[in-house]
Amino acid sequence: MSRFLNPRLERILPYTPGEQPKVPGLIKLNTNENPYPPAPGVLDVINRAEVEKLRLYSDPEASSLTAAIAAYYGVTQKQVIVGNGSDEILAFAFAAFFDPKEKLMFPDITYGFYSVYADLFSLTPEIVPLRADFTIDPSDYKGGNVVIANPNAPTGLALTLSQIEEILQANPGHLVLVDEAYADFGENCSALPLLPKYDNLLIVRTCSKSRSLAGARLGYAISHEDVIADLQKVRFSFNPYNVNRLTLLAGEASFADAAYFQSCIAKIKATRARLSAGLVSLGFTVLDSQANFVFAAHEAESGASLLAKLRSRNILVRHFAKPRIDKFLRITVGTDEETNALLSALADILQP
Ligand SMILES: Cc1ncc(COP(=O)(O)O)c(C=O)c1O
Repeated sequence: MSRFLNPRLERILPYTPGEQPKVPGLIKLNTNENPYPPAPGVLDVINRAEVEKLRLYSDPEASSLTAAIAAYYGVTQKQVIVGNGSDEILAFAFAAFFDPKEKLMFPDITYGFYSVYADLFSLTPEIVPLRADFTIDPSDYKGGNVVIANPNAPTGLALTLSQIEEILQANPGHLVLVDEAYADFGENCSALPLLPKYDNLLIVRTCSKSRSLAGARLGYAISHEDVIADLQKVRFSFNPYNVNRLTLLAGEASFADAAYFQSCIAKIKATRARLSAGLVSLGFTVLDSQANFVFAAHEAESGASLLAKLRSRNILVRHFAKPRIDKFLRITVGTDEETNALLSALADILQP
């Protein structure tokens, strides 16, 4: 720490991203990336001519991409904002809507960035424990701003649409931010159908998971036009060129190819079912995942030990050394081959 650091930042514990090691042959199932490449059209649009145009700034309005996203979801362009990953959109939302004087609630076990942003923006959130079975109790969220990941991470469990609606109705004077990073892998768990009814609903989404564009950094949010206007105010006060030219094109090409998108989702769902069943047959308790990862624990061996043993076999998964979830591993759904390799490594590790 230098002597110049703003004292407000001294105690902040930054987010710890999952490792991105460059080990040849590593089976990487630790950061919920998509095992399949982006839509083929992405490669076509990122060509020499576009690379030459990198001397020019990107479109600060991101008009073409926001039009494509709006058309895809049947909303107006003014209801859409794009960001440098959904993390940036989350940061904009924390800056725009959450005030230290107001209650802000999120679960004890959820995406780690929420508490980091709360610290960064000097907020003191009310941390709401998940139930013993790791589900969210919607009736716990009353009288304040709410941040919920649906499906939740790292559990993979999702609230139903009517449970999300219950939270929206219990907080009419506050914003309910629903982070749908994984919703494309779930069954009807997106809150999008509720948008016309609730002006306090902010849906944050990402192209990192279901659209295989984690490295391009593209997130977006959909909400009432006035909520999006507030987020645009923050974006234009921070970095109007937050999404680069190539990423804007990549995003548009991805949204243009619905068939490819659906086929990747279908493959991942099928592999997820096989992975879950394989883990159960090895004696794991596996939560009912609606995401592109599973959360699983084994009675016989700790999460930390399984992590280390898998790592020595060149397989990387994620473990959180945190109360309540210490026994669990979060395993990204990879290809079928990766899943087979993981299951046989675990069978080997756990053999009596
Ligand atoms: C729940 C959740 N929200 C948001 C993100 C951020 O995604 P990105 O910034 O890549 O869009 C992640 C990434 O892992 C996540 O798990």
